[in-house]
Amino acid sequence: MSMELLETKTLIAYNKTTDFRKYFLNKSRESLHSYEEAVISSMDAVKKAILSERQPYSGVHPQEIADFFSDKILLPKEGKDVKEVIEDIYEVILKNSAFVNDRFCLAHLHCPVVIPTIAAEIIISSLNQSMDSWDQSPSATIIEQHTIDNLCRMFEYPATADGIYTSGGTQSNFMALLLARDNYCQKNLNWSIQDNGLPPEVSKFRIICSEVAHFTVKQSASILGMGYRSVVTIKPNDDFTMDSVALEYKIEELKSEGLIPIAIVATAGTTDFGSIDPLNEIADIAHKYDIWLHADAAFGGALVMSNKYRHKIAGIEKSDSMTVDFHKLFYQPISCSAFLLKDKRNFDVLKLTADYLNPEINEENGIPDLVTKSIQTTKRFDALKTYVAMQSIGKTVYGDMIDYTIDLAGNVAKLIESDPSFVLCTQPTINSVVFRYIADNTPENKTEKEWNDHVNAHVKLNLLLSGKAIVGQTVVNGFACLKFTLLNPLTNFEDIEELLEIIKEEAKKIQI
Ligand SMILES: Cc1ncc(COP(=O)(O)O)c(C=O)c1O
Repeated sequence: MSMELLETKTLIAYNKTTDFRKYFLNKSRESLHSYEEAVISSMDAVKKAILSERQPYSGVHPQEIADFFSDKILLPKEGKDVKEVIEDIYEVILKNSAFVNDRFCLAHLHCPVVIPTIAAEIIISSLNQSMDSWDQSPSATIIEQHTIDNLCRMFEYPATADGIYTSGGTQSNFMALLLARDNYCQKNLNWSIQDNGLPPEVSKFRIICSEVAHFTVKQSASILGMGYRSVVTIKPNDDFTMDSVALEYKIEELKSEGLIPIAIVATAGTTDFGSIDPLNEIADIAHKYDIWLHADAAFGGALVMSNKYRHKIAGIEKSDSMTVDFHKLFYQPISCSAFLLKDKRNFDVLKLTADYLNPEINEENGIPDLVTKSIQTTKRFDALKTYVAMQSIGKTVYGDMIDYTIDLAGNVAKLIESDPSFVLCTQPTINSVVFRYIADNTPENKTEKEWNDHVNAHVKLNLLLSGKAIVGQTVVNGFACLKFTLLNPLTNFEDIEELLEIIKEEAKKIQI
């Protein structure tokens, strides 16, 4: 039997039992109907969840959720209508989500999303453009590049700059240290890591950051074959910013020991405190010693849109690379982030061509394949989300949202300072307020510190397990603390007044 005949027969055989059309987007009525039904039923389920939501979490124990799924088969023999599946998951998944829109959901750098971007998400998933090669994403590639070029200008990078969308701050920080390492070797040791692997000098490489820099600095160093011990941390100032005098001193010390500082990571918006390292001072030091400066602005990068606080990230344009997370203070759905690079030639160490994907003939013919500057191959069209959100909201309103939340954090800090039940750990720079509850009495068999550590940790846990509030926790100089990450522009001062009273009530209930 000829191949052609076999294929036709197979198709006929399948089509007799199943009409595949309703499963894929095409021009048929069946397809368009099932598309509409799928999107509308998911929208209805989310609306129902939002309307019935009373607190940020239902309070259901993790085991109860696990029990529900324990007898569910992932791939049943026969499927059912998507509407039915959504109704099914509504009961367990939607009802038991962490409602990031709730006024009392303020633990992490985890934001509510702006509505225009949800429309973009539908388009992204429906059209499924892959950003690795231009033939999979013609206009999308151009929009990603256009968005990146605009972002570089917003951050005042020069015309030599470029960038790429990434899956998050973790990937962006990793790319920064990868490029810092590889470009150091290329320029100073005439050594290509791409060709030869790590050079003999690798054990001397050092990356310098503050003690409160994000853990992905260490994680990246380890993945990059330099090990945790290559990361040298600087004790921060009392306001959790990097001590630039100590930084310079440390560089001198490392050099005198024959070690090689290859990168400095400055943080613009530390995860716990929102503190911003002195970017101008650090940049001057980095330039003086010719060390790559990466600005981790995963959190604070959004200040580029602020109407009042843009100056807090002044100097960021002096960095060699930066991380900006849109799924934090830009109110974008996960995931959405960018890595920006001041001199696009530094991407060359990533350059790799694959015959099937980005052959050299493409570049010669002006076809842009973004994979050439990425560590991902298949990649989502996340740039559309930022594009649609920025076009729909505009700078004035976006900036006001951010400014409102920063002002709210400042007012909440004052409130906490005025309440004897709490100690404020540091004045907030942007959206994070870190504080410690102080109990009125301490049980006889405990020290005050032990008891307050216990109470703070259990307040967080009990609020979460009851679902009343999702507040953050951290440890500051060895003391257990609570944290509000105030990203939501719909949360107001009175909400937080109420939450502080709830925290006090919960704290008083805690027993040994
Ligand atoms: C300062 C900073 N850098 C990097 C990251 C990692 O980002 P992501 O979670 O998007 O990978 C975070 C996450 O909170 C962060 O706060």
